[in-house]
Amino acid sequence: MQQPRLEPDLFRPVSYSRTTLTELMIPSYANFGGKIHGGILLSLMDKVAYACAAKHAGNYCVTVTVDGVHFLQPVEVGELVSLMASINYVGKTSLMVGIKVVAENVKSGFVKHTNTSYFTMVAKGEDDKPAKVPGLLLETPEDARRFIEAIQRKEIKVRSEQEFKEIKTNLELRQNISTLVGQRCQLGFDL
Ligand SMILES: CC(C)(COP(=O)(O)OP(=O)(O)OC[C@H]1O[C@@H](n2cnc3c(N)ncnc32)[C@H](O)[C@@H]1OP(=O)(O)O)[C@@H](O)C(=O)NCCC(=O)NCCS
Repeated sequence: MQQPRLEPDLFRPVSYSRTTLTELMIPSYANFGGKIHGGILLSLMDKVAYACAAKHAGNYCVTVTVDGVHFLQPVEVGELVSLMASINYVGKTSLMVGIKVVAENVKSGFVKHTNTSYFTMVAKGEDDKPAKVPGLLLETPEDARRFIEAIQRKEIKVRSEQEFKEIKTNLELRQNISTLVGQRCQLGFDL
């Protein structure tokens, strides 16, 4: 089987920057329903994504996009939340960090998967311009699978954004008004 050619550049292994952040969910993180605010979890995800990306890049990084944020299960006060981050993909100056979030009930030992999300970060140089990042040494078949998946996710996103842009530009209200039939809305104006 033909192997991908490695450029004569610096390559850092996925394990070099793999990062886990664990935090106890304290009462001040909770909403009125007693569950942890989604924004608290997003902030922790951004923090671990930064730590992982900056370690790989050896540079300051900024968050560009966040994909796949679906909170599948609520997180309770008193649970230990662990966020496991690793670099899934690198471009020239960008990096995609995959983050798996789990919450553990320390008394029962029960661990639930709350979400998996993907943060795209860009490394910045001293001049505040995007800076080249080291290549990624894929140490396991799982690393290679994630890299390929990330390329496919990026391609699908570009296609769907393009498609949606065309829909938005060309949307003619009269022609599409039937889309609202059966939806839970009423027209409060004359067409
Ligand atoms: C992200 C940012 C650096 C891009 O700057 P730019 O001048 O457009 O740079 P480029 O066009 O050279 O793109 C740089 C990289 O970002 C990637 N990128 C830019 N916009 C992107 C987007 N919307 N989604 C995914 N990747 C994106 C490019 O693909 C490129 O990756 P590559 O070098 O690996 O091929 C710039 O927009 C920025 O600083 N944004 C603010 C980020 C910030 O402050 N985040 C904190 C949260 S508020």
